[in-house]
Formats: sequence, structure tokens, C-alpha cells
Amino acid sequence: MTQRISLTRYLIEKQRGSQDAGGQGTIPPQLRLLLEVVARACKSISLAVTKGALGGVLGAAESENVQGEIQKKLDIIANEVLIEANEWGGHLAAMASEEMEGIYTVPNRYPQGEYLLMFDPLDGSSNIDVNVSIGTIFSVLVKDPEGPTVSEQDFLQAGHRQVAAGYCIYGPQTTLVLTVGDGVAMFTLDREQGSFVLTQENVRVPEDTQEFAVNMSNMRHWAAPVKRYIDECLEGKDGPRGKDFNMRWIASMVADVHRILTRGGIFMYPWDKREPGKPGKLRLMYEANPMGWLIEQAGGAASTGTERILDIQPTQLHQRVSVVLGSKNEVERVMRYHAEHQG
Ligand code: AHG
Ligand code: MN
Ligand code: MN
Repeated sequence: MTQRISLTRYLIEKQRGSQDAGGQGTIPPQLRLLLEVVARACKSISLAVTKGALGGVLGAAESENVQGEIQKKLDIIANEVLIEANEWGGHLAAMASEEMEGIYTVPNRYPQGEYLLMFDPLDGSSNIDVNVSIGTIFSVLVKDPEGPTVSEQDFLQAGHRQVAAGYCIYGPQTTLVLTVGDGVAMFTLDREQGSFVLTQENVRVPEDTQEFAVNMSNMRHWAAPVKRYIDECLEGKDGPRGKDFNMRWIASMVADVHRILTRGGIFMYPWDKREPGKPGKLRLMYEANPMGWLIEQAGGAASTGTERILDIQPTQLHQRVSVVLGSKNEVERVMRYHAEHQG
């Protein structure tokens, strides 16, 4: 029987470092602890999700978040689970979430650590009640050690400064997908054992694809380069691409990204002119950055269409961004169409 490697063992081994690298660990003990706690919180969220109507977790709450979106009960439950799990361990300075306007500083009664955790507690909220895959997305940064107290400013770091990122997808299986900057690994939740087990390492996104994911109902609002790219895909074998394309749109970024990490593809939520002042729909800090880093770590690319997502210097916690990510050659093609359009 091949030996099963739990997330705990995987992280401890990462902390120790491999013999080849002279025992140099890739993650410090406090980061290992943080990731264990996030995984534990995801396990509880997974349980709540699975109970559905039996757990009374479906439907809308009577509140709106800072983005003006009606919160679902599970948005709030997942947010609380993540905060309660992470606030007392001593590894964090503060947290930020899609569901909270400002940052959540670790209360004085607990020790403060050096890490900053950001999350989209429940991604794909419109899919909760219809029993379609949803997830939790997270991103970890290090607080500037010089600053005396933690503030929103500490969070405003470009995505290339993330030290860990990942998501947990609650689908037919519950799978945690993680990067600490040396590739992407996937862990499937073994419900009987109650632990995440390593099921795939060195995840790679194929460089080419014949599958795109975009909400086609927004087509008439898109910018010309995005419309050109999709039009050419739709022309299939008879068009300039000379091959047919397939389309998928799940409306949970976690599920679309999970498919791309599994079999390739391109995902886009581009800027559109419904609200021209908004750079896009998705949020930079807790959606685009962690997903962008995972995709890059798996050999794919993540861009706004004109620049690398991970190089954007954020100015606001809840800032939005145009997202094009996935198979490298397709993302580069979309970028080329943007450049040609401008030039
Ligand atoms: P959230 O549920 O966290 O607000 O995120 C939903 C996002 C993303 O997961 C998905 O790709 C996109 O919104 C779907 O948007 P449309 O409903 O406009 O297709
Ligand atoms: Mn989301
Ligand atoms: Mn959400």
C-alpha cells in the first residue's frame, strides 16, 4: 500500500526542508500553524455546507456586505468560523475578509503574530442554495515588522509578496489546494479520518487549451480585445484559430480555477462597461491574487489583460480588478490582443 501523506505531515516536512536543500525549510513554524488552522476552519465550513437545509444554513441573511451584496447565511457562518479559528493561535496580527469592511485585528487578550490573513470565506455564493460547488479562498502576507500597530496599510502589498495562498473547494469532494511558493499541491478531505490527504503534487496547467470560461451574457459590454478573443474561439475550426473550443462557466471562481488546474483552460472576468468606473468584478486581494499565484505556480499566467496581476500595488482592501488567467499561451494571446488594440 502506498503511504498516505496528511497535510500535517506535508507541512512539517516543508518546515524541516528536504535533505537535498541542506535541510533548508520553506516554511517557518508559525506559518505551518497558520495553514493548519485555516485547513481546520475549512473542514468545519465543509461540514456546514454538507448539511445544507438540514443544518439551516441555506438562504439569505438579512444584511449586505461592504460591496453592497446581499449576504448569504453561509457567507457569514464561514467568515465567523475563519475568525474564531484563527484569532487565538498567536500566529496572526490581523485578518481581512470580503465580508468585513475594515480589518479585524487580533484582540489584545491573545498574543499577536507576524502574519496577515485575507479570505473570501465563501466564494460562489449564488451557488450555495442550488447545490453547486463553492469554496473558500485565502492569502497570507507578512506584516511589516517595523510598524508598531497593525493597520489596513499593512495589507496593501502586491500579490508577489504572498507567502502562502490557496483555496478549499466544497464539491463532490472537499479539496484543499495550496502553494507556499514551490509549486501547487492538492489535498482531499478524508471524512472518516477527518484529515486532508495529499492527492496531487506538482500540479501543472497545460500551456494550451481548447476550453474557455467567461460569463457570455456580458459579451455586449466587453472591450474590443476580449470580444475579439472570444469571437475567434467561437468561430472554431473555420476561424483563425483553426480548432473548436468548448465553454464552461460555473460562477464559482474556485470551481472554474480548480478545473483549470486539473485540465487547463482560460478563465476571464474582464472589465466591462456596465459600470465603467469599476476595474472589474473580482476582488484583487482575496480572489485574484491568491488564484493568480496558484496558477503561476502551476505554470500558467494571470493578467488583467495588460499587466501581471501579482505586480499590482493595491490601494484599497476591497479593490476590484479585471482577471484573465489559466493556460499560458491563451492568456498571452489575450494580452497580445490588448497590446495590438492599444498600439
Ligand atoms: P462571491 O460569491 O465571493 O461574491 O464571488 C462570486 C464571483 C466568482 O466566484 C464568480 O466567478 C463570479 O463572481 C460569478 O459572477 P457572475 O454571477 O457575474 O457570473
Ligand atoms: Mn468570491
Ligand atoms: Mn464570497
